[in-house]
Amino acid sequence: MIDFHGKTVLITGAGGGIGAATAQLLHRAGAQLVLTDLSAEMLKPTLQALAEQGASTDRILALPLDVCDAKACASVLAQTAARFAGIDSVIHCAGIYIYREGLVADLSTEQWQRMLRVNLDGCFHLCQAAIPHLRPHSAIVLVASVAASRGSAMHAGYAAAKSGVIGLAKSLALELAPATRVNVISPGLINTAMASAMVAHRGSAVKDAIPLQRFGEPEEAASVIAFLCSGMASYVTGETINVNGGMYIG
Ligand SMILES: NC(=O)c1ccc[n+]([C@@H]2O[C@H](COP(=O)([O-])OP(=O)(O)OC[C@H]3O[C@@H](n4cnc5c(N)ncnc54)[C@H](O)[C@@H]3O)[C@@H](O)[C@H]2O)c1
Repeated sequence: MIDFHGKTVLITGAGGGIGAATAQLLHRAGAQLVLTDLSAEMLKPTLQALAEQGASTDRILALPLDVCDAKACASVLAQTAARFAGIDSVIHCAGIYIYREGLVADLSTEQWQRMLRVNLDGCFHLCQAAIPHLRPHSAIVLVASVAASRGSAMHAGYAAAKSGVIGLAKSLALELAPATRVNVISPGLINTAMASAMVAHRGSAVKDAIPLQRFGEPEEAASVIAFLCSGMASYVTGETINVNGGMYIG
């Protein structure tokens, strides 16, 4: 039902759990992919997984990108548009989370600013760089977190940044309509490297409190991202979809 043939999709954080699952799903759906992460090394497992599913390399471009670097974002988005004559979807999976980073009372300014720089400023740089290259009927999907809705003790910088992502997405949805839809997925606990420290320390207690009684798999976040980028979501913009097994019901 979801067909991305002829569509160009750029994914940040494509070496990570949700980014890699999204890349695999969209490749199967026919997309031309531009996969980015902090380094070429970080993209290797994703490229390997795509090769194992028989990926055609002429539909994949892998580029290093630190989303904190505005000039690098502009360059990568311009390279993408030049290679594939425009961009249909931008999926922003890059992010950082530090388990039990600290109480607000104890956080250094540097810790606070780093969370905002990667998780919110990076989002701004990427979206701003994408705007000149977005085709009609295009879509941006950003990734927030249940922390944006509920707050998260010991993770105030992360929660604040993810709340900011939702505000940025709503504003962009107004600014970029009607050509581009902008939506957010807000995951709860998804089985990726990012969640591993939390799962190791508090896994069973957290799991028991989730109505669906399990953590999510990266593929279950990827399928909602793919839906939001597809024509099946053609009348959805400015929206945030929780992907959290009922952990928070908005
Ligand atoms: N896994 C979860 O439980 C969970 C829950 C809520 C929200 N999220 C969000 O989902 C998104 C994807 O996370 P994931 O679970 O796949 O985590 P992950 O750690 O597996 O992947 C994150 C990726 O982002 C990349 N990255 C980090 N800093 C970057 C930067 N400055 N520039 C470019 N890339 C950078 C990392 O190299 C990594 O590959 C993140 O935004 C995260 O905050 C995840």
